Amino acid sequence: MGKKIFSGVQPTGNLHLGNYLGAITNFVELSNDNTNDCFFCVVDLHAITVNQDPKELRNNIRETVATFIASGIDPKKNTIFNQSRVSAHSEAAWILSCVARMGWLNRMTQFKEKAGKDKEKASIGLYSYPVLMAADILLYDTSHVPVGDDQKQHLELCRNIAQKFNSDFKKDDFLKIPEPLIQKDFSRIMSLKDGLKKMSKSELSDSSRINLTDTEDLIINKVKKAKTDPLPMPSTIDELENRPEAKNLLGIYSCLTNTKLENSIKNFSKKNFSDFKEILSQVLVDKIVPISQEIKKLLNDQNYLDKILLDGSEKANKIASEKVKKIHEIIGF
Ligand code: TYM
Repeated sequence: MGKKIFSGVQPTGNLHLGNYLGAITNFVELSNDNTNDCFFCVVDLHAITVNQDPKELRNNIRETVATFIASGIDPKKNTIFNQSRVSAHSEAAWILSCVARMGWLNRMTQFKEKAGKDKEKASIGLYSYPVLMAADILLYDTSHVPVGDDQKQHLELCRNIAQKFNSDFKKDDFLKIPEPLIQKDFSRIMSLKDGLKKMSKSELSDSSRINLTDTEDLIINKVKKAKTDPLPMPSTIDELENRPEAKNLLGIYSCLTNTKLENSIKNFSKKNFSDFKEILSQVLVDKIVPISQEIKKLLNDQNYLDKILLDGSEKANKIASEKVKKIHEIIGF
């Protein structure tokens, strides 16, 4: 039997190479296996945990769908929808927030990072966001969740919530315990400006990331300006130690060309970074520019994108509302 796949992406604009290599390439691969049943959700409820401009949010929801399709997800074979259209997600999130414990949520590192120093001013939604993520996953009896490394802790929390619900209500296996699917190497793509920081949409400097909507010139420029170190390119894996920028750029090259890191290192051993960067730019341009062009093309047909979301939400709604109905019965509503 195939896998039941669920994953989500926030429609906060600027989907980037980290999202692509950490998650979306995995979505595409899983969705190409016809035995899998895949749900890809544009998580607009998650997006509003921080301020959003309504007009931009609406555009970003469409852009996220366009990005899925441009990257190779077939909307006919897979369910693509936006979270807010399926009210079961909000409902299940509330119920599961009565199962999850404060102590568990207090350990979430992403909240600490996102809330920063002024936790008092963070929204309650930002704090309870991993519970909504658990609801997303558990409503569909998901077996596998493809995500980047930064979502590992949230997945662990989701598993804990499911286990506690099943044991509190003595319903073994009612909520299926999902497995994370995280890329083995380079599940965390780092900023082009700082090899110790994750590539992220919230980073102020646009040159810290390659966006999936970037043009050829932008990509070439960003790679040219990417931080490196004064040493020549490494010749062994050991030489990558304490050289996070070299490791990240070689990792990106290896992912995009499907090359083992060892072999990439051999190919560029002792070369100058500038020679390597030229080749890396070309590989990036070859991969990203067709996606970027396709996204722009798809965005010209809003009706098409809206129809995909509508059809997807109808399909999702059937499954999710059934599951919520069963949850109601179990908890005594
Ligand atoms: P989000 O929107 O921040 O990111 C979407 C996906 O991209 C991955 N990712 C990265 N992978 C590698 N390197 C990076 N620098 C990088 N940056 C982002 C993320 O790990 C993610 O897989 N909470 C989730 C969305 C979500 C979800 C879900 C995911 C909501 N419900 C249910 C799975 C299942 C989030 O904010 O992802």
